[in-house]
Amino acid sequence: MISGKKIFCMTCEKLLVIDKYLDQPQFFSTGNGGYLNTLHSAGIFGKGFKTFIENPQNVVAAYEDYDYFTARFSKEEVRHNLQTFMTKVSFSGEEQVLSVACGPLIYETFLSTNLFSKGRVFAVDLSRSLMKYGSEKLGQPKNLYLYEANAQSLPFSSEVFDICFSYAALHWIPDPEKAVKEIERVTKKGGFVHITYNPNFAGMETPLSKFIRAEQIIHDSSFTFVHPGFGEKETFREIIYKR
Ligand SMILES: C[S@@+](CC[C@H](N)C(=O)[O-])C[C@H]1O[C@@H](n2cnc3c(N)ncnc32)[C@H](O)[C@@H]1O
Repeated sequence: MISGKKIFCMTCEKLLVIDKYLDQPQFFSTGNGGYLNTLHSAGIFGKGFKTFIENPQNVVAAYEDYDYFTARFSKEEVRHNLQTFMTKVSFSGEEQVLSVACGPLIYETFLSTNLFSKGRVFAVDLSRSLMKYGSEKLGQPKNLYLYEANAQSLPFSSEVFDICFSYAALHWIPDPEKAVKEIERVTKKGGFVHITYNPNFAGMETPLSKFIRAEQIIHDSSFTFVHPGFGEKETFREIIYKR
């Protein structure tokens, strides 16, 4: 299906839009890895990490202290996630979608102005100021709705979303099983879920695929990218499934 940089599918046109978007310097620049280094030197990697993330205030403070937006993982990773989604799932653009642990809205701004411009995009994060920071930089599209909330207890009724995304975040959640259950509760039967996560982050195993209740697994693989923040390779697991 993939040949060079082009993807031959119904969404090929939209991919060109992604490339244009990714080439705009205001969306991406590499930053420093200060934040992860701080976590390392504070000794909270390994066993202490679980205790650390159990207090949502710690997570919020860690992200807010860090210039996360400018040290955003990598163009490579963002392109990868969006391309996988677009080649594996067909959608009309009118769907109601949710992004869990959205951070500074890099994906969500793109989703609401491009892929789902005729639909509605809801985004949830623990950190209000990270979302505010993102919307000040990128603008806030009319069909993008922001919620300060915990992924372990989503503020939505059951079966309301056609598609639910959660990128690079579930390894930060103290009870990832609860978060997956919440994602599945709010996704319509027959809707799609696209999750990327680090199964071995900070010395802690996140056995997410055990918790998933899928009607059909559409895609299950790993991908590696270089985190510009600390210049090391990170391997994420990625899963797309139908509820
Ligand atoms: C690595 S960032 C990923 C952000 C975004 N999805 C992206 O890929 O750019 C992880 C995000 O998870 C959020 N987060 C961590 N724990 C959370 C929780 N329990 N509920 C909601 N958001 C959480 C953090 O505030 C942070 O924005």
